[in-house]
Amino acid sequence: MSSNTERSLVLIKPDAVRRGLLGDILSRFERKGLLVDALELRTMDAALADEHYAEHVDKPFYPPLKDFMTSGPLAAVVLSGDSVIEVVRTMIGATDGRKAAAGTIRGDLALSNRENLVHASDSPDSAKRELAIWFPGRF
Ligand code: CMP
Repeated sequence: MSSNTERSLVLIKPDAVRRGLLGDILSRFERKGLLVDALELRTMDAALADEHYAEHVDKPFYPPLKDFMTSGPLAAVVLSGDSVIEVVRTMIGATDGRKAAAGTIRGDLALSNRENLVHASDSPDSAKRELAIWFPGRF
């Protein structure tokens, strides 16, 4: 079987850190067989939020999203593994925690479409862009 080792930028969001779910969420990724290549506790400032969420800055949900994402520390994580981008997106589930399938991180642990615990790169192009924003010159 062929493999496609790649990297994804994952943010374990401030709601997860506040709720004490950091270990649970990281553990799910590790038990899946993914590797943690980098891990830093960081607090987003306004400029970093605008850069990371550039495609959403004009959307009506962006101001409260920005307030939430800058409200406390989050874990910025680089994961690697076979097809990691798609695998992680499947593991986190649909954006809205109320609709995400049971068994996914959001489906099991979130009840909001804003405070949805995890962000993950959605394509190889966004992974490249997001890795450069969060870990410049490292990946
Ligand atoms: P994320 O995967 O980080 O990508 C964009 C984020 O915007 C998303 O997770 C949610 O936190 C948030 N988001 C997306 N759609 C909505 C919405 N309709 N209302 C509130 N927040 C949203």
